[in-house]
Amino acid sequence: MKNLILTGFMGTGKTTVGRILAKKKNIRLVDVDKEIEKLAGASIAEIFKTKGEAYFRMLETKAIKLVVQEENQIIATGGGAIVNAENLRMLKQSGRVICLRAATKTILSRVMNNDSRPLLNIDDKKSGIENLMNSRLKYYNKADFSIDTDGKEPEEVADAIMTYINADYDTVEVDLGERSYDIKIGAGTIKNIAHELKSLGFNDKVVLITSDCIDGLYAEDMMRRLASEGFDAKKIVVDDGEKSKSLDTANEIITELLELRCERNTPLIALGGGVIGDLTGFVASIYLRGVPFIQVPTTLLADVDSSVGGKTGVNHNYGKNLIGAFYQPKLVLIDINVLSTLPKSEFLNGIAEIIKYGVIHDPYLFKYLDENVSKLLAKDLDALKH
Ligand code: S3P
Repeated sequence: MKNLILTGFMGTGKTTVGRILAKKKNIRLVDVDKEIEKLAGASIAEIFKTKGEAYFRMLETKAIKLVVQEENQIIATGGGAIVNAENLRMLKQSGRVICLRAATKTILSRVMNNDSRPLLNIDDKKSGIENLMNSRLKYYNKADFSIDTDGKEPEEVADAIMTYINADYDTVEVDLGERSYDIKIGAGTIKNIAHELKSLGFNDKVVLITSDCIDGLYAEDMMRRLASEGFDAKKIVVDDGEKSKSLDTANEIITELLELRCERNTPLIALGGGVIGDLTGFVASIYLRGVPFIQVPTTLLADVDSSVGGKTGVNHNYGKNLIGAFYQPKLVLIDINVLSTLPKSEFLNGIAEIIKYGVIHDPYLFKYLDENVSKLLAKDLDALKH
């Protein structure tokens, strides 16, 4: 296994959670601050006092460079480590970077009676935390995954991280400048929906749009997970099938969104196949002149086709997809596990599309498909993820 890196503001529990994870996985925990102290032969507080912060930061980069030489470890960094782009690059290259988050109030209560943190050795700790946190948010947002630790026991945080690791993510970064987003692919990824939303900066109201058939299978569970992470989650269910890809259904959804008083920053989650993805994306592109949306495709065809590229739209009596917009999601979260409930004909429909990509564009993909056809048909997770 590559490393698992825990980062986040002071007092978010990196070392405590790191210890639990190290025990669970029976691997060692490396605390970057401890490595810095070893290099300096002095405590963090002494380094700051006698040599200053710049010297500390230099040692921090040196310690990270040494630590990432090894694999199979939990690495807990100091709260300021990933502000430095070189540190973040080294850490990301060595494994997954997980950011632990907490509200100012929580952090304050955790660091109040502890003077081992020189940056918080100030009278007005609350403002100090707020200012430093504001200046660091954009760096913390670069982590691969975030977990909110407010009101959670360290064990619970460790469990959420284990769920994340077990989903064994692969990420495809879609580089579109300001509209860039990730396609995350793994097994069990939808269990992490709430943490994914928080990683994107959402934490209040969210609307799940799904179809009849997916409702009982996956939407209920998703609603529970969202609620337990403090989201005000609402659900809109539309009829299964192509007939829902219409201006009428789009208008009905918009009416519900208005009645739910959804704001410009309320994200929509499209949980379903191509109809749901296209319809939700289209609504997202026009509701209040555009709100964020996330694709959670549940068919193989939607995984490889409709959820990719920002194609959104509805049908017209004169033909398919005649009304729509190119509108990019904030994230595409693909869960290979949900393909287990996909009817065989739907599964083959997706496979046919993938074979087509091989034929028209990618001889390596075509060869892979040819050699792995039986694994794919048996829904082997690694083959499907590939
Ligand atoms: C720092 C956080 C501390 C330590 C140093 C600087 C920071 O680690 O590295 O005091 O810049 O946020 P913890 O986050 O483990 O307290």
